[in-house]
Amino acid sequence: MPKPRVYATHQLFEEARAVLDAACEVEYWTGEERPPREEVLRRVKDKEGLVCLLTEKVNDELLRAAPKLRIAANVAVGFDNIDLDACTKRGVVASNTPGVLDETTADFAWTLLMAVARRLGEGEQLARSGNWKGWNLDQLCGADIWGKTLGIVGFGRIGRAMARRALGFQMKVIYTDAVMAPADVTESLKAEYRDMNSLLAESDFVSLHTPLTPETRSLFDASKFYRMKPTAFLINTARGPVVDEAALVAALEAKKIAGAALDVYENEPFIHPGLKRPNVVLAPHLASASLATRTRMAVIAANNVVALFKGQMPPNMLNASVLKKS
Ligand code: DGY
Repeated sequence: MPKPRVYATHQLFEEARAVLDAACEVEYWTGEERPPREEVLRRVKDKEGLVCLLTEKVNDELLRAAPKLRIAANVAVGFDNIDLDACTKRGVVASNTPGVLDETTADFAWTLLMAVARRLGEGEQLARSGNWKGWNLDQLCGADIWGKTLGIVGFGRIGRAMARRALGFQMKVIYTDAVMAPADVTESLKAEYRDMNSLLAESDFVSLHTPLTPETRSLFDASKFYRMKPTAFLINTARGPVVDEAALVAALEAKKIAGAALDVYENEPFIHPGLKRPNVVLAPHLASASLATRTRMAVIAANNVVALFKGQMPPNMLNASVLKKS
């Protein structure tokens, strides 16, 4: 039996390659940069499997170019790059990598929170500049974190991991979400529910942990920033388009909020020039980027592909109806 043919838009990590190569004939993109779209469209022509990153749009165009495709395995938990309906219509399974990056992502959201509150970006620049004249009483004084109020928007696995870390900082944790968390969760995390407006009015730090959906696109527009405290900070490790970047820049310019720390952007890799200011910490979409976590994500994607070709249900299938139909 010939092995199923798979295209991977990245060379992945050795551990994931071992899983894939044992069951499939895999062509890997090995370039440093992301592969050009035309290259991907050409390569998927004869492939039954695709392992892709969140930078690849799995849409009608790609599905048309890949008539034999049976699975598109995203190496990410977020799957807003995948047109799920289009996949389902064509009988293509889509999968993601949930569960393995929650703690690592929450670690990084905290890294950003602390960096922006304590002005680490500015401090690092000063320390490296050669212009530091030594300790001074009022030098780069930032905001305290301990004892403040953390507002979490989106209280899923990552939002809860964020909340758990706040306990050590003696913070008050409030959250908002379309669904209320179970009582045992809110009790153990000492987290209280608020509607969005109350959360914005009370929080010293607002941290976003929602997926990107039609409902959350531009959720943070001017009206949200105007409800935040002028001393509050926005942290975004979710998805860039959850925030209206032009409105955020306007709010920063008008001092409606104290600052922001961002890992994700509306049109990555483009970063709005108005965000390049001292009170904004900028990272290039790194929240899940520990070597161990990124390796686990790639292995999970590989396992999803292999499971399908072994006749099993891929463990992280996003459109189960595809297999139920057949
Ligand atoms: C995801 O998995 O969705 C992140 O954005 C990358 O880890």
